[in-house]
Amino acid sequence: MTKLACFGAGRIGQIHAVNAAQHPDLDLVCLVDPIAGPQREQLAARTGATLVEAEDVFADDSIGGIIIASSTDSHAGLLLSAAETGKAVFCEKPISLDFALTAEVAQQVEAAGIPCMLGFQRRYDRSFRALKDRIASGAPGRLEQVVMFSRDPAPPPRSYVETSGGMFRDSSIHDVDMARHLLEEDIARVYATGACLISDEIGAAGDIDTLMITLTTTSGRMAQIVACRRGPMGYDQRLEALCANEVLTVGNQPQSTLSISDPQGCRAAPPENYFLERFAQAYRDEMQAFAALLRDGTPPLAGIRDGLEAQRLVEAAVQSAQSGQAIEFSPDWTPKAKG
Ligand SMILES: NC(=O)c1ccc[n+]([C@@H]2O[C@H](COP(=O)([O-])OP(=O)(O)OC[C@H]3O[C@@H](n4cnc5c(N)ncnc54)[C@H](O)[C@@H]3O)[C@@H](O)[C@H]2O)c1
Repeated sequence: MTKLACFGAGRIGQIHAVNAAQHPDLDLVCLVDPIAGPQREQLAARTGATLVEAEDVFADDSIGGIIIASSTDSHAGLLLSAAETGKAVFCEKPISLDFALTAEVAQQVEAAGIPCMLGFQRRYDRSFRALKDRIASGAPGRLEQVVMFSRDPAPPPRSYVETSGGMFRDSSIHDVDMARHLLEEDIARVYATGACLISDEIGAAGDIDTLMITLTTTSGRMAQIVACRRGPMGYDQRLEALCANEVLTVGNQPQSTLSISDPQGCRAAPPENYFLERFAQAYRDEMQAFAALLRDGTPPLAGIRDGLEAQRLVEAAVQSAQSGQAIEFSPDWTPKAKG
């Protein structure tokens, strides 16, 4: 059993720490979170992990891996410490909000050769995975167009928006990653547009709440991302893939399978409330993948390079939305300046 430490006892840290503690091949021994409070004490009690400082983790050779589920601004430093001390990493997205730092960290992690997976959990979602497997089977024919809808149930508070890096970097990185995952071809053009249509608070924080991104591959295939910080029907995560012989769709996961029919029509249950519920199984499957990576090096569905490449596309989307121009994109494209 590999001994692990988890950084972060917030929303996603609680999910990953519990999943790691419950996994038969993993031994969650430590929890690190500098913010004292009942939340981290409760998580330590629930998982059996000991509360320690970051230095204790990196000085302990018996700890084989770390889970980075802490605030975004801590990811880069923790990844570098793991690379220096030879610990495997499961890191939440994004690597950093600064592209140059992201590229530097990815290079150091790859040079160190540590096992590393990125938290793009949608790749592990069983519906998106079935869609990907169907395309890979060849039966649907060539994938030509992908359309994704990604809407939150309600806008986040201003305090969250102010440190998030903006909607493109914080949220659309998942959609862009899914587009890369499905298209499996270099992107040649990125066009994005964004506006603040629903929340004055988000506008006051300098961000947008509604956006679209169009990605075009070198052979002309396309992905369209449609995203909003508000979804009138709740958390809305749908995808349609147009292939030569088939249209593949992934719909929302209902909270129950109850439907109510009467003379006025038929009503189904609403979608799962938010990402913690919608992707609960995907987070468990991610931890299973981390255990497999630690056990025998089974490659994860997303690694450090996927984190870097998704970020490169997101930066192009930011630049396109700011300039109003399409970005001619290539594998070595880098942002001109911080957006
Ligand atoms: N993949 C997903 O579905 C998903 C969902 C939510 C969040 N995230 C990502 O996970 C990260 C955490 O998000 P969250 O919503 O859980 O945030 P959160 O604010 O709820 O929790 C973050 C926790 O990290 C702690 N922390 C800050 N610096 C630390 C450090 N150096 N060492 C240890 N702990 C530290 C904070 O005290 C806080 O308790 C973010 O990078 C976010 O982008 C990913």
